[in-house]
Amino acid sequence: MPRLLTVSRAARLVGVSRGTLQQQIQDGVLPSFEGQVDIDDLTRAYPQVQLEDNAVMEKIENIIDNALKRARGDKLRKLLAPDLSTLAARVASLSKELARIKHQNQWLNDVIKQTQDKLLELEKTAKPGSALATLRIQLDDALNQPVDDSDVDELMIRDTVLRVMAAQVHLMPSGHEFFVEGNNSILEAALSAGLALNYGCSNGNCGKCKAKLISGEAKIIRQHDYVISEAEKSQGYILACSNTAISDIVLQAEEAGSEEEIPLQKISARVKKLDKLTDNLAVVHLRTPRTDRLRFLAGQRATLSTVGIDPVEYHIASCPCDDRNLQFHICRQQGKPFAEHVFDQMQNSESIMVEGPQGNFVLREDTTRPLLFIAFNTGFAPIKSLIEHAMTLDVNEFSHLYWFHQNDNKPYMHNLGRAWADAFDNFRYSPLHIPATATQKDIATSLSKISKDYPELDNFDIYACGSTASISTLNDFLNKQKFPAEQLFTETL
Ligand code: FES
Repeated sequence: MPRLLTVSRAARLVGVSRGTLQQQIQDGVLPSFEGQVDIDDLTRAYPQVQLEDNAVMEKIENIIDNALKRARGDKLRKLLAPDLSTLAARVASLSKELARIKHQNQWLNDVIKQTQDKLLELEKTAKPGSALATLRIQLDDALNQPVDDSDVDELMIRDTVLRVMAAQVHLMPSGHEFFVEGNNSILEAALSAGLALNYGCSNGNCGKCKAKLISGEAKIIRQHDYVISEAEKSQGYILACSNTAISDIVLQAEEAGSEEEIPLQKISARVKKLDKLTDNLAVVHLRTPRTDRLRFLAGQRATLSTVGIDPVEYHIASCPCDDRNLQFHICRQQGKPFAEHVFDQMQNSESIMVEGPQGNFVLREDTTRPLLFIAFNTGFAPIKSLIEHAMTLDVNEFSHLYWFHQNDNKPYMHNLGRAWADAFDNFRYSPLHIPATATQKDIATSLSKISKDYPELDNFDIYACGSTASISTLNDFLNKQKFPAEQLFTETL
């Protein structure tokens, strides 16, 4: 009987991205059954995964380390491992499953024993060498075969231990999957996984994150003021912001499928940090209140304003998975009062009104094609958001960032590009210098580096952002390459 795992869980077990396994399934290298993978096939495809004793503990450490990186602070460490009651609930849930499997096993043994006895009894009245005798001998032989439980059972043990540390959520109807680690609520885990689940206050007050538990167990981790009626409770409704998952669960929940489904919001945020990278370029970090976060999709814009200064739209440079921390890359521009305010007067903790989101330069999640990101100067801001979001979603097998810049030696966040390339095997980074005096013809010549790197460019989806002139040059260049228009997504500054 096949023992099936979801693609997310299988990828986690063998330590590759979900996109890699999905590609192997598409290429026919790894068989799948209704979107799931048999553990035997997985072991055959990844024989090199050695399951030495400490592998499980290493994996657990990785989970905690990853969560720590996101939480950015040792004092939060104790919040990241599941608390005792969550651990106890997960162990109880797995014990129930173990008891059910043992019971089923016992039942199967009884059936086999009864079949053996019956065959023996019938054989006594049958002719020697009859089909009955052959069947009994075959059954005896099969039962006497040693069971090869070496690799496979260790993989199952690893999976069981990981289930204690993190439960998997399968969302309906989208089919999205993610893991709930530590003491995270289902909502926090979904946002960290880059999913646009419906929510409002994050605090149990508004009811906008109400979702229906179809199967599995959830546990309340925060008392909430919003009242779920008894009738709704009996149908399985819970608040995603106030519950965690105890076992693997299936949840019917509303997600924003497109930019139109996210409402316009107005939020008062505070300046958390201001980095003036040069005399003309600043990175503004804003932090929203815990109970009033900005819902947006990667690549979108928001309008910023402060007292006495007209609102102005900027691209959000951060990932929606970190929705309380918003980042903007702002150039000093004569005649733009908000930009001048950033360079001349902005203070930490200052209140900034954020209204948004706007724009439709967002990641198309219905394709797993490799991605090319092309940024011209500060067109990097929405590209950064898209890259971080794509990395969080983990569905594309490969991506490459080309950053055309006019700085003398390197782009203003060069180290980030290099860090991504160092950290992810499936990510490449190419900074390309174009002098400030470069003509559009010069830029077109620089773009030809991309088609030299990838002669079969139409295998990719391309996301690009820059000035109107740069994007127009890119369009001309790609038209000449007969690049499919439906795989090109552009945004101008
Ligand atoms: S987001 Fe408001 S109750 Fe959950």
